Amino acid sequence: MIKVWDYKKEYELLRDDILSAVDEVFKSGTLIFGPKVEEFEEKFSSYHDCKYGVGVGNCTDAITISLRSLGIKPDDEVITTSNTAVPTVTGIVNSGASVKFVDVNNYSLIDPEKIEAAINKKTKAIIPVHLYGQMCEMDKIMTIAKKYKLKVIEDCAQSHGATYKGKKAGSIGDVGCFSFYPTKIFGAYGDGGFITTNNIQLYDKIRRIRFLGMEKKKMSSGHWNGKYYAIEHGTNSRLDEVHAAILLKKLKYLDQWIERRRKIAKVYDEELNNYNLSLPKEHPDNKHAYYIYVVAHERRDNILSELAKKDIHLNISYPWPIHIMDAYKHFVCSSCNCLINTEKMSKKIFSLPMYPTLTDEEQKTVIKELKTLIN
Ligand SMILES: Cc1ncc(COP(=O)(O)O)c(C=O)c1O
Repeated sequence: MIKVWDYKKEYELLRDDILSAVDEVFKSGTLIFGPKVEEFEEKFSSYHDCKYGVGVGNCTDAITISLRSLGIKPDDEVITTSNTAVPTVTGIVNSGASVKFVDVNNYSLIDPEKIEAAINKKTKAIIPVHLYGQMCEMDKIMTIAKKYKLKVIEDCAQSHGATYKGKKAGSIGDVGCFSFYPTKIFGAYGDGGFITTNNIQLYDKIRRIRFLGMEKKKMSSGHWNGKYYAIEHGTNSRLDEVHAAILLKKLKYLDQWIERRRKIAKVYDEELNNYNLSLPKEHPDNKHAYYIYVVAHERRDNILSELAKKDIHLNISYPWPIHIMDAYKHFVCSSCNCLINTEKMSKKIFSLPMYPTLTDEEQKTVIKELKTLIN
């Protein structure tokens, strides 16, 4: 069987490292807010060329906490794309704000040329989603944000290690939000998330909001060094010591794993060219990290079911744009056709197996069977 994603081979390779990391934490006596989280916060943020970083429970929380820390309030509007994972939008709605969708360009990313038309008095932030492992055109987005005084929250859930003009994901906007959901380029063995920033005041606020709005306060009796005291309303969203320790072990492999993904992508590019299949494009300013390799074909559903019969399993990210889902329909007007590219692509896209431990043989089989089907 060839899966579209698989972690078990990676676990076989890293098993000793991972089990020793878990054992070390269990024996240490500290499971939450300890040295592993601190070390990971320092190393993961510097890997992304950022001064500060905060571990949180997941990327959905990272988005909500970021928006709240940036002062986004109910009634404010946040611009993003509808071609994204539901949690981008969940994160916005959890902050109390409304969503304004902008269509995507040929790279399946937010089209910067269409952002200004979506801005009004209520607009307070933009969330460019660096989808599939490739970053959005950040220069254009930052210029618009500056002009209209908007905050920029980079959704980097799918773009660990990706770059735009040599700058890492999460290092350009006010904050970057990452996911360590197991399938991601850099995944944990459970949930986890992260926020990067270069702004110290924002960093302090993010740290406080992720931990119930609390800081240490001295008791008048002089007892204790300080007890936790909520100075603002926060939430509870923590990366735990076990996952920080596992991610620390994995961090040293991230660059080589991205290179392996790029090599797999190159083979697909070369082999599947000229097959009436639309292939992903890497923007000349980008280093694509290929979280997933997304292609498009008119007979998408048939291809998926035929290959499944041969035990080759593909995926669709995403079959329904967010703005047509019942939960979020109200964010677009009923006659709206301004998300035309998003709607068109959602009917044809699917992704091929992509993960560092996919073997050359497995990839050859996928390519051979796919060619036979679409020829
Ligand atoms: C683009 C995008 N944003 C946000 C998230 C949310 O991540 P998490 O599952 O860690 O909350 C995901 C994960 O599915 C994602 O793909």
